[in-house]
Amino acid sequence: MPHPTHLPPWSAMALIAVLAGGTVQAQEAPAGRVQLVGRAVPDVARLPAGPYKDLVQYGKDLTTHTFAHIGPEVETPAKRYSGNNLACASCHQQAATKPFAIPWTGVGATFPQYRGRENNVSTVEDRVNGCMERSMNGKALPLDSQEMKAFVVYIAFMSRGIPVGAQVDGAGLVSSKMPDRRADPGAGAKVYQARCAMCHGETGQGLRSGKPGDAQGYIFPPLWGPDSFNNGAGMNRLIMATRFVKHNMPQGVNFDAPQLSDDEAYDVAAYMLSQPRPIKTGLEADFPARWNKPVDAAFPPYLLGADADQHRFGPYPPLLEKQRRMAEQLKAGAAAEQPAAQGK
Ligand code: HEC
Ligand code: HEC
Repeated sequence: MPHPTHLPPWSAMALIAVLAGGTVQAQEAPAGRVQLVGRAVPDVARLPAGPYKDLVQYGKDLTTHTFAHIGPEVETPAKRYSGNNLACASCHQQAATKPFAIPWTGVGATFPQYRGRENNVSTVEDRVNGCMERSMNGKALPLDSQEMKAFVVYIAFMSRGIPVGAQVDGAGLVSSKMPDRRADPGAGAKVYQARCAMCHGETGQGLRSGKPGDAQGYIFPPLWGPDSFNNGAGMNRLIMATRFVKHNMPQGVNFDAPQLSDDEAYDVAAYMLSQPRPIKTGLEADFPARWNKPVDAAFPPYLLGADADQHRFGPYPPLLEKQRRMAEQLKAGAAAEQPAAQGK
């Protein structure tokens, strides 16, 4: 275990804030709470005509029809940034407005933020490119591209009226608890055939809108195989995928009326993630501050003395407990460092 002295003071503060269940911003005076459920979604159509409206509209189209603008099958080779034919909205449902389906509403007010994957402060552009390189299995968008600008403007527009630093209820995913056992992909295969295959297909390859090569994307997106998210994506982590599936699938399900039990969601997500998908190289560089590497990030190095299988399929509660204890020890060390650091 790394010894906790030599943490710079900002790192100690981030650690304490993260342990308290928030981001670094959450430590400052609270900017209030915003409830996304039942909140009106900003409407692009009501903006006055002009360049701002055009860019918000482009950002929305990029979100729902990513494949048609920057997908691997678009006519202009230089525009082929995305490596698969998914849309951002394949996961960020309803043009990234659906509560508890990782909505972007409010994201404009929570970035820049500290992120463990980089152990650094990320801008919203960094975050967009995180999904470009992983969820979309593609390349980063240039910061000065019209597409990046459009995403940032769309996110800012969706976040109108939400103060910087606010706590946003409905952000991210529902933090449901994982069953305290290894997930069972075999049981998950049965759930898949009964509850998912009618849309995503017997072999998980989804249903295309048109023909391969025509950049029309999918009616039902693929869940694995060459046109899916890669192994470095957030959705490739079992806790993340379980929470997404439980509260958002089958399509039409909302957070407050799930159709799958905790066990079914856990097993079917494990079945999905046990299938082949594109590989991202260099993942060992993710989460350089190893103590905050999520327990379900199923790629080395592993710090908690468990094997690869446990990170991939659980059981997670023992790993979470180990990680909590490690963080407590680091926190005690970091707190002891703080007065000295402030005296400088
Ligand atoms: C395969 C599913 C998937 C697709 C497709 C996808 N994302 Fe994501 N995205 C995620 C997940 C999962 C997270 C949360 C990851 C985490 O918390 O570490 C996320 C997080 C984000 C966030 C931060 C949200 C927050 O609450 O802080 C932004 C912004 C984002 N994605 C943008 C995009 C953009 C832009 C695209 C399309 C170019 C895209 N995503 C496509 C799964 C996806
Ligand atoms: C009625 C059709 C339908 C059923 C049934 C369904 N899905 Fe989906 N699923 C969709 C659609 C459509 C999307 C794209 C998001 C959207 O439009 O809401 C999606 C998106 C997804 C995504 C994220 C995008 C991707 O390609 O990775 C995952 C993961 C997923 N579904 C898993 C499941 C699982 C697991 C089940 C079974 C428990 C399931 N779905 C059942 C229609 C369905």
